[in-house]
Amino acid sequence: MNFKGGSGKTTTSAHLAQFLALRGYRVLAIDLDPQASLSALFGHQPEFDVGENETLYGAIHYDAAKRDVTDIVRATYTPNLHIIPGNLELMEFEHETPKALAGRHKTDSMFFARIGECLAEIESAYDIVVIDCPPQLGFLTLSALCAATAVLITVHPQMLDVMSMSQFLHMTGDLLSVVEDAGGSMDYDWMRYLVTRYEPNDGPQSQMSGFMRSIFGNRVLENSMVKSTAISDAGLTKQTLYEVDRNQFTRGTYDRALDPLRP
Ligand SMILES: Nc1ncnc2c1ncn2[C@@H]1O[C@H](COP(=O)(O)OP(=O)(O)OP(=O)(O)O)[C@@H](O)[C@H]1O
Ligand SMILES: [Mg+2]
Repeated sequence: MNFKGGSGKTTTSAHLAQFLALRGYRVLAIDLDPQASLSALFGHQPEFDVGENETLYGAIHYDAAKRDVTDIVRATYTPNLHIIPGNLELMEFEHETPKALAGRHKTDSMFFARIGECLAEIESAYDIVVIDCPPQLGFLTLSALCAATAVLITVHPQMLDVMSMSQFLHMTGDLLSVVEDAGGSMDYDWMRYLVTRYEPNDGPQSQMSGFMRSIFGNRVLENSMVKSTAISDAGLTKQTLYEVDRNQFTRGTYDRALDPLRP
């Protein structure tokens, strides 16, 4: 997550989820972004293939139409990798939550508990759940933060992006303490920064990346996602680096992009 648009959240989520699935883990990817880029990337076009109540919103909303989360999970064409797709209806959670808060029935669970509760129903079926968050700090993102056991923040190493991330962290910290006071859980196994779309030959970017490493130490992941036409070209055909044919690119380009994504 990060509320900076284009910081590489979806690209990272897609590669992470697919990588883990290819290694044999049972992975569930959740697209929590109404823009639904992750769903499109995994073969579920949000405006054609995803109908009403077929996003996670179907399992977390406040009225009687709430569905069982197991009915919403779909397969992808990667074995071991399932997805709960997104589309614009996810926005309704942002609109409905203030109403629910205003007139809350005593037995209703709070907004921040809802994603965690529905994941608890299916957690035995998966080894890991990867949630791709929207570029905003709304109720969806806060709920994801409460459900999460670990947090990965993607950041492009440029001054304005890092400043924006700093704002994001300040606001998140403030909001999370309110949520925690209301009973939300904020226990994380880890929280890390991932430098994305990194151009090692760009002086200011490597300065910024070094600056982050000096401040956050080993909380910045050692490998960065390098900026590469292999990644953006693969995106054009809704593919990841693990799917495209290596011969489609000059070998150096492909290998340089894939190198940091290998164990
Ligand atoms: N390492 C990379 N090299 C080249 N292009 C990249 C790389 N990472 C991401 N991109 C491209 O940058 C764009 C934004 O990336 P992405 O969608 O992953 O960001 P995001 O943080 O999910 O955006 P949003 O905030 O809109 O959800 C995409 O077009 C993607 O293909
Ligand atoms: Mg995205």
